[in-house]
Amino acid sequence: MENKGIVELYQPRHTLIGRDGIMKIPYFLRRLNAERVLVVTDKGLVKTGTAGKVTAVLDDAKVNYVIYDGVEPNPSVRIVNEAFDFYKKNQCDAIIAIGGGSPIDVAKAVSILSANGGKIQDYNGYNKSKKHGSPIIAVNTTAGTGSECTRAYVVTDEEAKTKLLMVDTNSLAHIALNDPMLMVGMPPSLTASTGIDALTHAIEAYICNTHTPFTDALAMESIRLISESLREAVRDGSNMDARTDMCWAEYMAGLAFSNSGLGLVHGIAHQLGGYYNIPHGLANAIMLPRVLEYNRPYCMGRLAEVAQAMGEKVDHMTVDQASRQAIDAVRRLIEDVKIPSLCDTKFDMKDIDYLAEHALLDTATQTNVVRPTRDDVKTIIAKTYYEGIIKKQVKENG
Ligand SMILES: [Fe+2]
Repeated sequence: MENKGIVELYQPRHTLIGRDGIMKIPYFLRRLNAERVLVVTDKGLVKTGTAGKVTAVLDDAKVNYVIYDGVEPNPSVRIVNEAFDFYKKNQCDAIIAIGGGSPIDVAKAVSILSANGGKIQDYNGYNKSKKHGSPIIAVNTTAGTGSECTRAYVVTDEEAKTKLLMVDTNSLAHIALNDPMLMVGMPPSLTASTGIDALTHAIEAYICNTHTPFTDALAMESIRLISESLREAVRDGSNMDARTDMCWAEYMAGLAFSNSGLGLVHGIAHQLGGYYNIPHGLANAIMLPRVLEYNRPYCMGRLAEVAQAMGEKVDHMTVDQASRQAIDAVRRLIEDVKIPSLCDTKFDMKDIDYLAEHALLDTATQTNVVRPTRDDVKTIIAKTYYEGIIKKQVKENG
């Protein structure tokens, strides 16, 4: 390995992975001396009873808590401010986030504001805060975002029509918790898109230009587990073995990208989320194959290893062939778990210049294996869009 100097590694203070892990929450709250807890979640998770499974544990242990359930997908600055006002009004001193990326991201934003004040826009970029915020117990309910184990969080700035990406060690959760029992009720479409988000984390962490031996190991095993178990988790959501594999995979992928970097898939997906409110996992899943095709000439050896991790028979192939096989395997997986096309979303070709320009500036794009041009990004988006239209027409015409 090339000498890259000193590498800093980050992870949550504690990690809990496994069935009924939520039962441990009161024990950790006692250790934190938490007096009043803010539970951050969304209305969907309250409605499906997923949040209720966690609050039932808090009720049994007589934990003093209040609930903010106003989080929406691609949470905005407005939602962060609302949640923070609620936190202050109730004089909370700890946060439990229940959700996928959105509630966990809001919890991180509230935690940073609680210790540092100011506006969330002040913290856009790398390590902009001075102090660690109030402790977060990040209870993950989707096996995808990795938000519970990373030092990154994303907030949509509606006025600027873009996404703020904060990468801040002070936002790391005190406890990252992955309990597969909470994921049982997740619908197949969400299982699919969040699962491909995790796959994107692992692949981008593996091929980006800031990977390390530590992140390589995490990414490889994550890719292997996702290839083995995502289809089954989508097909039968109550299969605990598949759900548990996806818990491990998403956690390792989250740890991988948090300690290495991402790439152009996320760079474009962040814009699709900020501009059209396309859910994050879906935006990544849509963009992944074409960005990999674009990156392939610059990371053929690494993609050949991805093919191997995905269980492809590549021993007899050249590196060039094996790297193409990796992209084929990704396409097959995306097809099997029924990810929609870009043309099924609110995306409009008239916005392509704006999207490409902002994708180039996105923090995730900075670690892509090769530096793309504006035209490169436009071509990738356009190819993805027209490929979707052609597929649709072929389907409609039988
Ligand atoms: Fe992601």
